Parts: sequence; C-alpha cells; structure tokens
Amino acid sequence: MDLSVEFAGIKSRNPTMLASGILGISYEVMRRVYDAGAGVVVSKSISVEHREGYRGPIIVKVDSGYVNAVGLANPGVDHFVQELSRYGYDRERVDATQQDDKSNSNDNSVPIIVNLVGSSVNEFVSMVKRLDHLSIIGYELNLSCPHVERVGLEVGDDPELVSSIIKGIRAVTKKPIIAKLGLGAVDMIEVARVAIDSGANAVTAINTIRAMVIDVETCMPVLSNRVGGLSGRAIKPIAVRCVYELYNAGVPVIGCGGVYDWRDALEFILAGAQAVQIGSAIGYRWLDVFKEINDGIKEYLARKGLKSVRELIGVAHRY
Ligand SMILES: Cc1cc2nc3c(=O)[nH]c(=O)nc-3n(C[C@H](O)[C@H](O)[C@H](O)COP(=O)(O)O)c2cc1C
Repeated sequence: MDLSVEFAGIKSRNPTMLASGILGISYEVMRRVYDAGAGVVVSKSISVEHREGYRGPIIVKVDSGYVNAVGLANPGVDHFVQELSRYGYDRERVDATQQDDKSNSNDNSVPIIVNLVGSSVNEFVSMVKRLDHLSIIGYELNLSCPHVERVGLEVGDDPELVSSIIKGIRAVTKKPIIAKLGLGAVDMIEVARVAIDSGANAVTAINTIRAMVIDVETCMPVLSNRVGGLSGRAIKPIAVRCVYELYNAGVPVIGCGGVYDWRDALEFILAGAQAVQIGSAIGYRWLDVFKEINDGIKEYLARKGLKSVRELIGVAHRY
C-alpha cells in the first residue's frame, strides 16, 4: 500500500503531519514525533524575538477539544537556527522520504517545516533570510498574528498584507511556502487565492477558532488572556468544509482541525486535502496517533482494492 503523498512540492512518506504549536520546538521531540510515524513535522510558530507568551492558565480542556491562548511563546528565530544547526541542519539533509517507519542515524533526516509568525513583511523576510541556509524543507506562515495598524484584525484579514508578505518571502527563498489560514474576518477563499497568486505553494486550513470558557464558581474567564482558540473534534466539520471549498476553488490544501483517527484523516483527504495535520489528538492519544492513522488508512485501501492514498484525494467532489 502506498501512503506517500506530495504537497507544495514536498514528498512525504505518508499524509500525516505534526501541526504547529504541539511539541515542535526542541529537535529531540520533533525526532520522536517523526520516529512515531509522522510524515512531516511542523515547528511551533517562531518569531523574530523570543516571546514569553501569556501567564497561565493557557489551555483548558473542553468537551470536544481544547481552548488555548499560549501567546505564541517561543525562543525566537536565532535560538531556533542554533538548535537545528546543532543537529546537522546546516548541512545538506539526508533524504528520508523513502524510509519506512524507522529513522536512520542521521539526525538531520527529519523533514521539518518551520512555521513563522510575524506582523510585518520585514519580520517574515528577516526570519527567512536567517533560516534559509538550513536544510529545512519549507515554511508555513501563521497569519493569525494581530494586525499592528488595524487593531482587532489579524494579519490574514488583510489580503494586501498577505500578498506583500508572501511576495517578500518568495523573493528570498526557493523553498515551498505554505500559508496557514484561520476563520478570519475575510473570506478564506479570497485570502487563499491571494496567497497562491503571490507565490505560496499551498495553504493549510484551519487554525483554531476564537472561543472562551468561564468558570461558574469563580465567575471568571478561565484563560489568563480570557479569549483563546478552540481546537480538536469540535472544529472538524468546519475544517472539512473549508478544505472542500478550497479544493473546489482549485487551491492546493493541507487539512487541519480535529483529526483524531484514520476516519477523520480520510474525511479531509476525500474533501481534497493532500495531507493532514494532527495537533490536539496528541493530548488524547499521544504519539501513537500517527501510526494508528497510517495503519487505518492502509487497511482501508486494502478493503477498497486501492493501491495509493493519492487516489482518494478529492473523491467526495464526484458526488
Ligand atoms: C496548544 C496549542 C498551541 C498551538 N500553537 C500554534 C502555533 O504556535 N502556531 C500555529 O500556526 N498554530 C498553533 N496551534 C494550532 C494548531 O496547529 C492547529 O491549527 C489547531 O489546533 C487545529 O488542529 P487540531 O484540532 O488537530 O489541534 C496550536 C494549537 C494548540 C492546541
């Protein structure tokens, strides 16, 4: 059974990816995620400067997922460059796409996409310039950072800014660029088209959805930031709808939001996703989730008499 897929010009041994923000800061942990079966690992969002993030509580479990407001805590781009250089990413990467489940001994064989967050063209471009000599396989742009000039909006709500950011990055790198979209104030299809026309190779849909939890005993919002982002099972049908519409609009798309098992992953693939990212499920099923999803897809392919998972991409659009 062939689980390999290709998205944004990246070849992956299977369609599962680690979603940004979940475990993707230290190389050792990213290696564990890859060894557990993920096809590609996406780092946590990296910013120009180190960010402390919000004080706790930063995450709360709800019936069908989590609400989090971490505040984009990360060590900053220079620290991340050092971290990856320590593990050989300042050399050419050993291509591990043909490897099966186990890694080889070359540390830099883990395929890492670096997720970047910023609020201006300069911030994004300066990070890419510092990272681009590394043998990382691409960039994912978190466009959910607050807009500096238009308070209340996010970067992704400003198609002109999105276009300038992507054009700016495209001018300094040949690596794949993936724009990660949320349910912002502007139609997702419009922002996705602008992203692709400006030089992005694919989009990831979706990021968390703004949400809130209040403790009825203390009468206080639970998260220190009051409002956070909902992830997990609760958002899956919304995310599947977004992927379906993006595929319909001809946008190459990676699905994300509420993937817990192989059925969820297949739902996204049938809607048109070329790969699927997994975040919150790790909190419930730990890293076993990657192998469980890949094994489940293999069994499904055998049962349906299919040879490759690629045959399933977008099939729901036939009906
Ligand atoms: C604790 C936590 C931290 C996250 N941090 C980031 C982040 O740094 N950058 C980003 O682009 N998305 C971040 N996300 C969003 C996830 O990558 C993903 O888009 C979202 O959680 C939906 O997928 P899921 O339902 O599989 O978790 C975070 C999600 C969670 C739960």
